[in-house]
Amino acid sequence: MSDLIAQLEELCIEAEAALTRTQTTAESEAWYHEYLGRKGKMTAALRGLGQLAPEQRPQVGKRANEIKQALEQVLAERQEQIAADEMASALAAEGIDITMPGRRPAVGKLHPTNQAMRDIVQIFNQMGFQLFDSPEVETDDMNFGLLNFPLDHPAREMQDTFFTTTPDVILRTHTSPGQIHAMRKYAPEPIRVVLPGKCYRNEDVTARSEMMFYQVEGLAIGHNVTFSDLKGTLLNFANQMYGEGRKIRFRKSYFPFTEPSVEVDVDCILCAGAGCRICKYTGWLEILGAGMVHPVVLRNGGYDPAIFSGFAFGMGIERQAMLKRGVDDIRLFYSNDVRFLDRV
Ligand code: PHE
Repeated sequence: MSDLIAQLEELCIEAEAALTRTQTTAESEAWYHEYLGRKGKMTAALRGLGQLAPEQRPQVGKRANEIKQALEQVLAERQEQIAADEMASALAAEGIDITMPGRRPAVGKLHPTNQAMRDIVQIFNQMGFQLFDSPEVETDDMNFGLLNFPLDHPAREMQDTFFTTTPDVILRTHTSPGQIHAMRKYAPEPIRVVLPGKCYRNEDVTARSEMMFYQVEGLAIGHNVTFSDLKGTLLNFANQMYGEGRKIRFRKSYFPFTEPSVEVDVDCILCAGAGCRICKYTGWLEILGAGMVHPVVLRNGGYDPAIFSGFAFGMGIERQAMLKRGVDDIRLFYSNDVRFLDRV
């Protein structure tokens, strides 16, 4: 019995020594066949078990198994080491430096107009305004007449219109016709909606005006909707869009579809009212037009002005993006220069 154990122990020492000399995966596999394989030396030695007295077999068998398992374990470790060495020398041969930082993939991002539009819509969503879609191509009546523009009113000329070859069909000059669509859809229910979208004006393209631009319209109608509600809503918007603690001010203005009408300024986000080049030393930046919905417009939308009141506002989206990100030329938005789109 002790003979066989001694023989196994010796074989184990020999095998371990041989294993440390293997340098490649192929050599380590050859080692496996030589010692642990079906025709290997361990297997051959264990045949001697059959000749032992039955009471000796369990003890010798147990030790034989331990040795076998130990050899399998060191083989696995050796093969792992060999694989790592082989990988390292293959990489070195190919000249690959795995410690070099990876290349950043070019990742796209939202267009600054879309980003500003989403920001604006989200702020009003939180205040309970739902998104409302309305068309870019309108009739003259929707864009002007139903919004209380008299036929010969000079305000029509303020918004130089693109006409189509179909009589009376025009490209909308503002998102305000969406007010009529929303009212006609929901009357006589209360409304709180925001309508973002493209508008078109046949104007000279300058740093301040494009032929195509985006607006967001807002409309709230209900019982007892007041001018204070408009102020609170817009103050909340200014604080979320331009920063906490922002002030706003209202200046009297004129739009045919609101009465009274106002233009709304926010205190200059650059100089906080002290006066700088951006705010032309006034301390204020104009951000939007607004007012209480004119009774004629309420009626055109299907609401009785004796029972309902409402407010509306409209803002240029690029203008908000320009103020927020310090862009001084609206033409940059649609000239598709990636250096600008990346930076903004
Ligand atoms: N439609 C107006 C414009 O384009 C903005 C506005 C909307 C003003 C709603 C008052 C109320 O200038």
